[in-house]
Amino acid sequence: MALLTIRTYPDPVLREIASPVRHITEKIHTLSSDMLETMKLSNGAGLAANQVGVPIRLIVIDAHLNQDNRPLILINPEIIEMESEIIAEEGCLSVPHYYEFIKRAKRVFVRAMDMDQKTVEINCEGLLAKAFQHEIDHLNGILFIDHLSPVKKGIFKKQYNKIKK
Ligand code: NI
Repeated sequence: MALLTIRTYPDPVLREIASPVRHITEKIHTLSSDMLETMKLSNGAGLAANQVGVPIRLIVIDAHLNQDNRPLILINPEIIEMESEIIAEEGCLSVPHYYEFIKRAKRVFVRAMDMDQKTVEINCEGLLAKAFQHEIDHLNGILFIDHLSPVKKGIFKKQYNKIKK
């Protein structure tokens, strides 16, 4: 296994719209286990492939968010339904040392493919629902800071530039 470098804002790869995965190759197997390892060592709850510089539609989510306590590795995940709203604190490995309250759907219904090319459907709330919305946003080139109000985004930019220096 290899530890991957996590790209941080404003790296342009984080703004790329990730391409669908058509074939689950050996390379994708290796990438997904490296992503899991990298996420764990960074204490992240989830990671999208563009965060490690590979703009393809692949996400991993940590075991502690999943009911059966196994990490999720999902290909081409899509949010099919969302319901109601909740405001909760978020952070991102690609936006280090910054946390803010973000409005998300409370419940989501997600369809994806697992590494055996089987369709997976997950109906969830709570931390897992938040993680799905955050990680699928990454695949569309969206960061959690994009959900901030213009005022808060201005504050973020000032703070973040200080951290970066
Ligand atoms: Ni993130």
